[in-house]
Amino acid sequence: LANGLGRTPPMGWSSWNHFGCNIQEKLIKETADAMVSRGLAKLGYKYINLDDCWGASSRDTHGRLVPNATKFPSGMKALGHYLHSKGLKFGLYADAGTRTCTGTMPGSLDHEGKDAQTFASWGVDYLKYDNCDNNGINPEDRYKKMSEALLRTGRLIFFSICEWGKEMVATWGNDMANSWRTSGDIRDSWDSMVLRADRNDEWASYAGPGGWNDPDMLEVGNGGMTLEEYRSHFSIWALAKAPLIIGCSIPKMTNDTYEILSNEEVIAVNQDLLGVQGKKVKKDGHLEVWAGPLHDNKVAVVLWNRGSKKATVTACWSDVGLDPTVAVKARDLWTHSSRYALRHQLSAHLDPHASKMYILSPL
Ligand code: DGJ
Repeated sequence: LANGLGRTPPMGWSSWNHFGCNIQEKLIKETADAMVSRGLAKLGYKYINLDDCWGASSRDTHGRLVPNATKFPSGMKALGHYLHSKGLKFGLYADAGTRTCTGTMPGSLDHEGKDAQTFASWGVDYLKYDNCDNNGINPEDRYKKMSEALLRTGRLIFFSICEWGKEMVATWGNDMANSWRTSGDIRDSWDSMVLRADRNDEWASYAGPGGWNDPDMLEVGNGGMTLEEYRSHFSIWALAKAPLIIGCSIPKMTNDTYEILSNEEVIAVNQDLLGVQGKKVKKDGHLEVWAGPLHDNKVAVVLWNRGSKKATVTACWSDVGLDPTVAVKARDLWTHSSRYALRHQLSAHLDPHASKMYILSPL
Protein backbone atom coordinates (compact mmCIF):
# COMPACT_ATOMS: atom_id res chain seq x y z
CA LEU A 1 0.00 0.00 0.00
CA ALA A 2 1.44 3.36 -1.00
CA ASN A 3 0.75 5.14 2.30
CA GLY A 4 4.48 5.67 2.81
CA LEU A 5 4.68 3.10 5.60
CA GLY A 6 6.40 -0.26 5.72
CA ARG A 7 9.12 0.54 3.19
CA THR A 8 10.98 -2.16 5.14
CA PRO A 9 9.20 -4.87 7.17
CA PRO A 10 7.77 -3.66 10.48
CA MET A 11 9.59 -4.53 13.72
CA GLY A 12 8.14 -4.65 17.20
CA TRP A 13 6.33 -6.79 19.71
CA SER A 14 2.83 -8.21 20.05
CA SER A 15 1.09 -9.48 23.16
CA TRP A 16 -0.62 -12.49 21.56
CA ASN A 17 1.89 -15.34 21.29
CA HIS A 18 2.99 -15.21 24.90
CA PHE A 19 0.21 -13.51 26.85
CA GLY A 20 -2.97 -14.24 24.89
CA CYS A 21 -5.84 -12.47 26.63
CA ASN A 22 -3.81 -11.88 29.75
CA ILE A 23 -2.86 -8.26 29.04
CA GLN A 24 -3.15 -5.03 30.98
CA GLU A 25 -1.68 -1.57 31.20
CA LYS A 26 1.18 -2.41 33.56
CA LEU A 27 2.42 -5.25 31.32
CA ILE A 28 2.36 -3.05 28.23
CA LYS A 29 4.28 -0.28 29.98
CA GLU A 30 6.84 -2.72 31.38
CA THR A 31 7.26 -4.19 27.91
CA ALA A 32 7.83 -0.74 26.46
CA ASP A 33 10.33 0.12 29.19
CA ALA A 34 12.23 -3.13 28.59
CA MET A 35 12.25 -2.59 24.82
CA VAL A 36 14.07 0.65 25.41
CA SER A 37 16.32 -0.36 28.33
CA ARG A 38 17.50 -3.59 26.69
CA GLY A 39 18.35 -1.68 23.52
CA LEU A 40 15.85 -3.42 21.24
CA ALA A 41 14.04 -0.19 20.37
CA LYS A 42 17.32 1.24 19.10
CA LEU A 43 17.71 -1.78 16.81
CA GLY A 44 14.37 -1.01 15.16
CA TYR A 45 11.77 -2.79 17.30
CA LYS A 46 9.37 0.14 17.55
CA TYR A 47 5.82 -1.18 17.47
CA ILE A 48 4.19 -2.23 20.75
CA ASN A 49 1.08 -4.07 19.61
CA LEU A 50 -1.88 -5.00 21.77
CA ASP A 51 -3.65 -7.99 20.28
CA ASP A 52 -7.13 -9.30 21.10
CA CYS A 53 -8.72 -8.68 24.53
CA TRP A 54 -7.85 -5.03 25.13
CA GLY A 55 -11.45 -3.83 24.79
CA ALA A 56 -14.71 -3.74 26.72
CA SER A 57 -17.28 -6.32 25.65
CA SER A 58 -19.62 -3.74 24.16
CA ARG A 59 -19.50 -0.31 22.56
CA ASP A 60 -20.26 2.84 24.58
CA THR A 61 -23.50 4.82 24.21
CA HIS A 62 -21.99 6.69 21.22
CA GLY A 63 -21.24 3.43 19.49
CA ARG A 64 -17.49 3.70 20.06
CA LEU A 65 -15.05 0.97 20.97
CA VAL A 66 -13.74 1.44 24.48
CA PRO A 67 -10.94 -0.23 26.41
CA ASN A 68 -11.61 -2.71 29.18
CA ALA A 69 -11.56 -0.31 32.14
CA THR A 70 -10.21 -2.86 34.59
CA LYS A 71 -7.25 -3.79 32.39
CA PHE A 72 -6.57 -0.31 31.00
CA PRO A 73 -7.73 2.15 33.67
CA SER A 74 -5.84 5.12 32.19
CA GLY A 75 -7.35 4.59 28.75
CA MET A 76 -5.82 4.19 25.33
CA LYS A 77 -4.95 7.79 24.64
CA ALA A 78 -2.77 7.84 27.76
CA LEU A 79 -1.16 4.55 26.76
CA GLY A 80 -0.41 5.93 23.31
CA HIS A 81 1.19 8.99 24.90
CA TYR A 82 3.29 6.78 27.12
CA LEU A 83 4.57 4.71 24.19
CA HIS A 84 5.23 7.78 22.06
CA SER A 85 7.11 9.46 24.92
CA LYS A 86 9.50 6.49 24.84
CA GLY A 87 10.03 6.87 21.09
CA LEU A 88 7.89 3.80 20.41
CA LYS A 89 4.80 3.25 18.27
CA PHE A 90 1.34 2.13 19.30
CA GLY A 91 -0.33 -0.91 17.72
CA LEU A 92 -3.88 -2.09 18.26
CA TYR A 93 -6.04 -4.98 17.12
CA ALA A 94 -9.56 -5.10 15.70
CA ASP A 95 -11.64 -7.57 13.72
CA ALA A 96 -13.24 -7.46 10.26
CA GLY A 97 -16.35 -9.21 11.53
CA THR A 98 -18.92 -8.84 14.27
CA ARG A 99 -16.81 -10.15 17.21
CA THR A 100 -13.07 -10.61 17.71
CA CYS A 101 -11.71 -14.18 17.68
CA THR A 102 -11.80 -14.59 21.45
CA GLY A 103 -15.34 -13.21 21.43
CA THR A 104 -14.37 -10.69 24.11
CA MET A 105 -14.78 -7.52 22.03
CA PRO A 106 -17.08 -6.17 19.32
CA GLY A 107 -15.82 -6.40 15.75
CA SER A 108 -15.56 -3.45 13.38
CA LEU A 109 -17.68 -4.71 10.48
CA ASP A 110 -20.02 -1.84 9.50
CA HIS A 111 -18.30 0.42 12.06
CA GLU A 112 -15.12 0.96 10.05
CA GLY A 113 -15.28 4.77 9.82
CA LYS A 114 -16.03 5.35 13.47
CA ASP A 115 -13.46 2.82 14.69
CA ALA A 116 -10.73 4.17 12.43
CA GLN A 117 -11.41 7.64 13.84
CA THR A 118 -11.29 6.31 17.38
CA PHE A 119 -7.94 4.63 16.70
CA ALA A 120 -6.52 7.79 15.12
CA SER A 121 -7.73 9.88 18.08
CA TRP A 122 -5.83 7.55 20.42
CA GLY A 123 -2.62 7.97 18.44
CA VAL A 124 -2.61 4.45 17.01
CA ASP A 125 0.19 3.79 14.49
CA TYR A 126 -0.51 0.16 13.50
CA LEU A 127 -3.74 -1.79 13.15
CA LYS A 128 -3.89 -5.58 12.94
CA TYR A 129 -7.26 -6.53 11.48
CA ASP A 130 -8.48 -10.07 12.20
CA ASN A 131 -11.03 -12.21 10.36
CA CYS A 132 -13.46 -13.84 12.84
CA ASP A 133 -17.27 -13.82 12.70
CA ASN A 134 -17.24 -12.32 9.24
CA ASN A 135 -20.67 -13.60 8.10
CA GLY A 136 -19.07 -15.00 4.98
CA ILE A 137 -18.73 -11.56 3.44
CA ASN A 138 -15.98 -11.23 0.82
CA PRO A 139 -12.72 -10.43 2.65
CA GLU A 140 -11.47 -8.07 -0.02
CA ASP A 141 -14.49 -5.81 0.56
CA ARG A 142 -14.24 -5.99 4.32
CA TYR A 143 -10.53 -5.22 4.44
CA LYS A 144 -10.78 -2.49 1.83
CA LYS A 145 -13.40 -0.66 3.91
CA MET A 146 -11.11 -0.43 6.90
CA SER A 147 -8.13 0.46 4.75
CA GLU A 148 -10.01 3.40 3.25
CA ALA A 149 -11.37 4.46 6.63
CA LEU A 150 -7.83 4.53 8.04
CA LEU A 151 -6.60 6.62 5.12
CA ARG A 152 -9.48 9.06 5.61
CA THR A 153 -8.38 9.76 9.20
CA GLY A 154 -5.27 11.46 7.84
CA ARG A 155 -3.13 9.63 10.40
CA LEU A 156 -0.45 7.31 9.07
CA ILE A 157 -1.45 3.87 10.30
CA PHE A 158 0.34 0.69 9.25
CA PHE A 159 -2.40 -1.72 8.16
CA SER A 160 -1.85 -5.43 8.82
CA ILE A 161 -4.34 -7.87 7.32
CA CYS A 162 -4.91 -11.04 9.36
CA GLU A 163 -6.98 -13.08 6.92
CA TRP A 164 -4.86 -16.25 7.37
CA GLY A 165 -3.93 -16.55 3.71
CA LYS A 166 -7.33 -17.80 2.66
CA GLU A 167 -8.58 -16.03 -0.47
CA MET A 168 -5.16 -15.63 -2.15
CA VAL A 169 -4.69 -12.52 -0.02
CA ALA A 170 -1.17 -11.94 -1.34
CA THR A 171 -2.65 -11.16 -4.77
CA TRP A 172 -4.81 -8.29 -3.45
CA GLY A 173 -3.24 -7.40 -0.10
CA ASN A 174 -0.93 -4.77 -1.48
CA ASP A 175 -3.87 -2.74 -2.86
CA MET A 176 -5.00 -2.00 0.67
CA ALA A 177 -2.47 -3.06 3.28
CA ASN A 178 1.15 -3.00 4.38
CA SER A 179 1.26 -6.69 5.31
CA TRP A 180 -0.95 -9.75 5.09
CA ARG A 181 -0.84 -13.08 6.88
CA THR A 182 -0.22 -16.03 4.57
CA SER A 183 -1.38 -18.77 6.98
CA GLY A 184 -3.27 -19.59 10.17
CA ASP A 185 -1.77 -19.13 13.62
CA ILE A 186 1.78 -20.14 14.38
CA ARG A 187 2.42 -22.33 17.43
CA ASP A 188 5.64 -22.53 19.38
CA SER A 189 6.89 -25.70 17.66
CA TRP A 190 9.32 -26.65 14.92
CA ASP A 191 6.63 -28.18 12.68
CA SER A 192 4.37 -25.17 12.93
CA MET A 193 7.24 -22.80 12.19
CA VAL A 194 8.59 -24.61 9.08
CA LEU A 195 5.08 -25.02 7.68
CA ARG A 196 4.53 -21.27 7.90
CA ALA A 197 7.92 -20.57 6.32
CA ASP A 198 6.95 -22.78 3.35
CA ARG A 199 3.43 -21.39 2.91
CA ASN A 200 4.75 -17.87 3.01
CA ASP A 201 7.40 -18.72 0.44
CA GLU A 202 4.78 -19.49 -2.21
CA TRP A 203 3.83 -15.80 -2.38
CA ALA A 204 7.32 -14.31 -2.43
CA SER A 205 6.86 -12.43 -5.70
CA TYR A 206 4.03 -10.33 -4.23
CA ALA A 207 6.12 -8.77 -1.44
CA GLY A 208 8.06 -5.53 -1.63
CA PRO A 209 8.49 -2.10 -0.06
CA GLY A 210 5.09 -1.02 1.28
CA GLY A 211 3.52 -4.51 1.40
CA TRP A 212 4.88 -7.71 2.94
CA ASN A 213 3.93 -11.35 3.27
CA ASP A 214 3.45 -12.21 6.94
CA PRO A 215 4.14 -15.80 8.10
CA ASP A 216 2.96 -14.72 11.60
CA MET A 217 4.67 -13.40 14.69
CA LEU A 218 7.91 -14.76 16.13
CA GLU A 219 7.92 -17.51 18.74
CA VAL A 220 11.61 -16.99 19.62
CA GLY A 221 11.98 -17.13 23.40
CA ASN A 222 8.71 -18.86 24.23
CA GLY A 223 10.35 -22.18 25.10
CA GLY A 224 8.91 -24.69 22.62
CA MET A 225 11.94 -24.90 20.31
CA THR A 226 15.68 -25.34 20.82
CA LEU A 227 18.04 -22.41 20.44
CA GLU A 228 19.18 -23.75 17.06
CA GLU A 229 15.57 -23.95 15.93
CA TYR A 230 14.88 -20.42 17.12
CA ARG A 231 18.00 -19.20 15.29
CA SER A 232 16.70 -20.85 12.11
CA HIS A 233 13.25 -19.36 12.70
CA PHE A 234 14.70 -15.87 13.07
CA SER A 235 17.09 -16.26 10.11
CA ILE A 236 14.36 -17.41 7.73
CA TRP A 237 11.90 -14.72 8.85
CA ALA A 238 14.61 -12.11 8.33
CA LEU A 239 15.56 -13.44 4.89
CA ALA A 240 11.90 -13.68 3.81
CA LYS A 241 11.37 -10.02 4.71
CA ALA A 242 8.74 -11.05 7.23
CA PRO A 243 7.54 -8.61 9.87
CA LEU A 244 9.81 -9.12 12.89
CA ILE A 245 7.19 -8.96 15.60
CA ILE A 246 8.56 -10.44 18.81
CA GLY A 247 6.16 -12.76 20.61
CA CYS A 248 7.86 -13.53 23.92
CA SER A 249 7.95 -11.69 27.24
CA ILE A 250 10.41 -8.83 26.82
CA PRO A 251 10.86 -8.09 30.55
CA LYS A 252 11.59 -11.77 31.25
CA MET A 253 13.65 -12.50 28.13
CA THR A 254 16.77 -14.64 28.70
CA ASN A 255 20.18 -13.65 27.39
CA ASP A 256 20.02 -16.43 24.78
CA THR A 257 16.77 -15.05 23.44
CA TYR A 258 18.15 -11.54 23.50
CA GLU A 259 21.18 -12.65 21.54
CA ILE A 260 18.99 -14.01 18.76
CA LEU A 261 16.57 -11.11 18.53
CA SER A 262 19.27 -8.47 18.74
CA ASN A 263 21.51 -9.82 15.98
CA GLU A 264 22.08 -6.63 14.02
CA GLU A 265 23.54 -8.34 10.99
CA VAL A 266 20.49 -10.55 10.60
CA ILE A 267 18.17 -7.60 11.19
CA ALA A 268 20.04 -5.68 8.48
CA VAL A 269 19.12 -8.39 5.95
CA ASN A 270 15.45 -8.03 6.90
CA GLN A 271 15.64 -4.23 6.66
CA ASP A 272 17.67 -4.12 3.43
CA LEU A 273 16.38 -1.31 1.25
CA LEU A 274 16.04 -3.45 -1.86
CA GLY A 275 13.11 -5.17 -0.14
CA VAL A 276 13.15 -8.42 -2.11
CA GLN A 277 11.80 -11.48 -0.27
CA GLY A 278 14.41 -14.25 -0.09
CA LYS A 279 13.17 -17.66 -1.24
CA LYS A 280 13.84 -21.35 -1.05
CA VAL A 281 16.12 -21.81 -4.05
CA LYS A 282 17.24 -25.42 -3.62
CA LYS A 283 15.94 -28.49 -1.86
CA ASP A 284 17.55 -31.89 -1.60
CA GLY A 285 15.42 -33.94 0.77
CA HIS A 286 15.58 -32.12 4.07
CA LEU A 287 18.57 -30.01 3.03
CA GLU A 288 17.63 -26.58 1.83
CA VAL A 289 19.19 -23.38 0.54
CA TRP A 290 17.27 -20.13 0.86
CA ALA A 291 18.55 -16.92 -0.72
CA GLY A 292 17.67 -13.46 -1.89
CA PRO A 293 19.32 -10.36 -3.33
CA LEU A 294 20.38 -7.36 -1.24
CA HIS A 295 21.47 -3.88 -2.30
CA ASP A 296 24.93 -3.47 -3.91
CA ASN A 297 24.80 -6.90 -5.59
CA LYS A 298 25.10 -8.71 -2.30
CA VAL A 299 23.21 -11.91 -1.63
CA ALA A 300 21.78 -13.23 1.63
CA VAL A 301 21.94 -17.01 2.00
CA VAL A 302 20.63 -19.47 4.57
CA LEU A 303 21.90 -23.07 4.53
CA TRP A 304 19.34 -25.08 6.45
CA ASN A 305 19.33 -28.70 7.63
CA ARG A 306 15.69 -29.53 8.25
CA GLY A 307 16.37 -33.23 8.73
CA SER A 308 17.02 -35.19 11.90
CA LYS A 309 20.63 -36.18 11.12
CA LYS A 310 23.80 -34.13 10.86
CA ALA A 311 24.41 -33.21 7.23
CA THR A 312 26.31 -30.95 4.86
CA VAL A 313 24.36 -28.33 2.96
CA THR A 314 25.91 -26.68 -0.09
CA ALA A 315 24.96 -23.61 -2.09
CA CYS A 316 26.53 -23.11 -5.51
CA TRP A 317 26.83 -19.56 -6.79
CA SER A 318 24.37 -20.40 -9.56
CA ASP A 319 21.80 -21.52 -6.94
CA VAL A 320 21.83 -18.14 -5.25
CA GLY A 321 21.95 -15.87 -8.28
CA LEU A 322 25.67 -15.12 -8.35
CA ASP A 323 27.92 -15.17 -11.40
CA PRO A 324 29.55 -18.65 -11.20
CA THR A 325 33.02 -17.23 -11.91
CA VAL A 326 33.04 -14.57 -9.22
CA ALA A 327 35.07 -14.62 -5.98
CA VAL A 328 33.12 -13.57 -2.91
CA LYS A 329 33.52 -12.58 0.68
CA ALA A 330 31.25 -14.68 2.90
CA ARG A 331 30.16 -13.05 6.11
CA ASP A 332 28.72 -15.47 8.69
CA LEU A 333 25.96 -13.50 10.41
CA TRP A 334 25.87 -15.67 13.53
CA THR A 335 29.60 -16.11 14.25
CA HIS A 336 30.29 -12.57 12.97
CA SER A 337 33.34 -13.65 11.02
CA SER A 338 34.29 -13.43 7.33
CA ARG A 339 35.98 -15.68 4.81
CA TYR A 340 37.52 -14.13 1.73
CA ALA A 341 37.87 -15.05 -1.93
CA LEU A 342 35.52 -18.01 -1.91
CA ARG A 343 34.77 -19.51 -5.30
CA HIS A 344 31.95 -21.58 -6.80
CA GLN A 345 30.19 -22.71 -3.64
CA LEU A 346 29.74 -22.56 0.09
CA SER A 347 29.07 -25.54 2.40
CA ALA A 348 28.34 -26.07 6.05
CA HIS A 349 28.10 -29.20 8.16
CA LEU A 350 24.97 -28.67 10.21
CA ASP A 351 23.31 -30.24 13.23
CA PRO A 352 19.66 -31.29 12.85
CA HIS A 353 17.41 -28.24 12.43
CA ALA A 354 20.42 -25.91 12.47
CA SER A 355 21.22 -23.30 9.86
CA LYS A 356 23.94 -20.88 8.85
CA MET A 357 23.24 -17.44 7.50
CA TYR A 358 25.62 -15.44 5.31
CA ILE A 359 25.91 -12.34 3.25
CA LEU A 360 27.93 -13.00 0.10
CA SER A 361 29.59 -9.95 -1.45
CA PRO A 362 31.28 -10.26 -4.85
CA LEU A 363 34.88 -9.04 -4.61
C1 DGJ B 1 -6.41 -15.03 15.28
C2 DGJ B 1 -5.13 -14.41 14.78
O1 DGJ B 1 -4.64 -15.11 13.68
C3 DGJ B 1 -4.10 -14.40 15.92
O2 DGJ B 1 -2.88 -13.88 15.49
C4 DGJ B 1 -4.66 -13.60 17.08
O3 DGJ B 1 -4.79 -12.26 16.71
C5 DGJ B 1 -5.98 -14.17 17.53
N1 DGJ B 1 -6.90 -14.32 16.42
C6 DGJ B 1 -6.63 -13.29 18.58
O4 DGJ B 1 -7.89 -13.73 18.93
